[in-house]
Amino acid sequence: MTDTYVGDVSRTIEILQAVLATELVCVLRYTQHSIVANGLASEGVKKEFAQHAKEEQEHAMSVAERIDQLGGAPDFNPKGLASRSASEYTTGADLVSMIKENLIAERIAVDHYRELIRFFGDNDPTTRVMIESILAVEEEHASDMLDLLATHGGVKD
Ligand SMILES: [Fe+2]
Ligand SMILES: [Fe+2]
Repeated sequence: MTDTYVGDVSRTIEILQAVLATELVCVLRYTQHSIVANGLASEGVKKEFAQHAKEEQEHAMSVAERIDQLGGAPDFNPKGLASRSASEYTTGADLVSMIKENLIAERIAVDHYRELIRFFGDNDPTTRVMIESILAVEEEHASDMLDLLATHGGVKD
């Protein structure tokens, strides 16, 4: 990290720990869903869940690297992970509930990251740009879940 950092570094690290936890919970949720989803129509959905799990893992890694760059220690402790995360770990009873739960989690992430982008603004452009690139993927994820919901008979909201 350079000594020209304008923002509050410890506050930034704290925020990024919550983002890291959110991403890790997303990895766990999508991974679980990709394995337990079943039924005739589930093959494509399982693949989509697995792909999202992989992308959430990439997000977690970028955020963890940024925390390290800022002089923090990325928190991968499973203890308290759920409470540090902005979204929940949920296991759906069927395909449509899983899709809905992922859609909710994606929307929470999208709202949260949009807020963070405004927060970082020009004080920390490096972190802001990272969150912006993560946000673009979360928006795609939300849209993928909406499409799956339409395909699999869930009602859009
Ligand atoms: Fe993500
Ligand atoms: Fe996502």
